[in-house]
Amino acid sequence: MTNQLPISSLGYVRIGMNEPQEWADFGEAILGLQASRATDGRVQLRMDSAPARFIVEPATRPGFIAAGWACEHDDFDRLVGQLERAGIALTEGTMEACEQRSVQGFVSGFDPSGNCFELYHGRSQAADTAFESPIEGVRFIADELGLGHVVLPAPEHTATSDFYQSMLGFAMSDALTLPPPVEGAPEMIVYFLHARSPRHHSLGLFNAPVPSGIVHLMVEMTSLDAVGCCLDRVNAAGYPLTATLGRHLNDGMVSFYFLAPGGIPIEVGYDGKQFDWSDFEPTVSTVGDIWGHEYQFADE
Ligand SMILES: [Fe+2]
Repeated sequence: MTNQLPISSLGYVRIGMNEPQEWADFGEAILGLQASRATDGRVQLRMDSAPARFIVEPATRPGFIAAGWACEHDDFDRLVGQLERAGIALTEGTMEACEQRSVQGFVSGFDPSGNCFELYHGRSQAADTAFESPIEGVRFIADELGLGHVVLPAPEHTATSDFYQSMLGFAMSDALTLPPPVEGAPEMIVYFLHARSPRHHSLGLFNAPVPSGIVHLMVEMTSLDAVGCCLDRVNAAGYPLTATLGRHLNDGMVSFYFLAPGGIPIEVGYDGKQFDWSDFEPTVSTVGDIWGHEYQFADE
């Protein structure tokens, strides 16, 4: 039944910045996103046919605000009913907030680790214009696959994983356990969960807190050269790398990681595997990478 998963994909992310325009400038110059509109101090960026994938809002404390998950109207009603019966506090999106997201309706709430999630339906289709990157040749693997994936901090690891599976209908792809980054620290565990999107995971849950509110956000480009050119732009602009180029074992993504404005770690990748969920068995792994991905952990 896994092909009936109610959430189709990661639809959008909300990011807070002291100066939202700073993130828009970064998104255009480094990632090749296309700033689409700016209202009430917010800026929105596109990566594909969707009207907005990145919603950047004024905030006193910069960081990740929320992940927006897409579903059909009947699944939306069913999931909202399920959340309400379980006593999960939900806030219904106002008309103005729906307009900001280009959706017909949404609710927001918090998972057991305190991450804000939004569940929406009725995303209006593309703006009248096709996506056009300000950087020649940049395109993203997105559209029906969704924006990419988020890996979120989940100190309440089991409860949070259970919540996304039982309440929002995600399914497990892989449970990865890695040795502690430094001696004496706990081992690192990431659960990778998929939606209906054929991406190996649209959501990852990491077993520790992260100050910026997000472990990383992944976007996928359409060629290895595009990833390499992006890496050159990141290095030239002086954004700190948080992992060198490498290939993950579970989703096969060739990628690198760096720290974007607002303290948002971004993974830029290519070549992620796509899966047929009707014929899939979740895996358990103890190796994260086939090669590369030397991580630079912050000292603080
Ligand atoms: Fe990732």
